[in-house]
Amino acid sequence: MSAEGLISEFYVDKKGEIILVTVFVPEERENLIRMYEEYDPESRCCGLPPNTRNGIESWIDALHKNGYGFIAKLGDRVIGHIAAVPENSEAEFAIFIHPDFVDRGIGGELIRFASRVMREKGVRKLKAITERTNRRAIETYRHLGFLAVSRDPLYVYFEKEI
Ligand SMILES: CC(C)(COP(=O)(O)OP(=O)(O)OC[C@H]1O[C@@H](n2cnc3c(N)ncnc32)[C@H](O)[C@@H]1OP(=O)(O)O)[C@@H](O)C(=O)NCCC(=O)NCCS
Repeated sequence: MSAEGLISEFYVDKKGEIILVTVFVPEERENLIRMYEEYDPESRCCGLPPNTRNGIESWIDALHKNGYGFIAKLGDRVIGHIAAVPENSEAEFAIFIHPDFVDRGIGGELIRFASRVMREKGVRKLKAITERTNRRAIETYRHLGFLAVSRDPLYVYFEKEI
């Protein structure tokens, strides 16, 4: 299957809502910024997302200039985002699900979708970093087959061959 044939999928989440997972396109930039403007401070991880509109814009634009973007949508609303920055055959990604939509399987679906698309583009290893206190992210990565390859006092470093 080519990456071009895999640009979006529908998924019924654990509350029965129909969620679209798809590749980020510039037309979604404003919807994505809106999601991050609503992001509550307790759900931030590794100092992200930035907490000002200017900071969010610069962060999103830099991520998408250098890498891959994926989003989850409910209707017109963006409710989840992955940005992945490739280097050779590896890519490091960050994922954020809107706080109102966590624990519904959406993060897992978005990671699976992004993995398939990036594999089609030649990526063979995914990397993710999270804070040691972020139980939800740690359990999510483990559940999806990521291995914790190292730790330091603040962060856990995950990898997965895809
Ligand atoms: C971490 C985060 C991305 C996870 O996304 P999510 O949509 O809440 O997670 P999901 O509901 O898809 O869970 C992912 C998988 O892990 C499993 N899982 C989640 N928490 C689990 C737990 N405590 N124990 C066992 N399995 C767990 C789920 O069952 C799911 O598997 P499934 O899809 O096969 O059912 C999301 O909660 C988030 O955005 N948090 C704030 C920002 C953040 O921490 N980002 C990541 C680090 S930078």
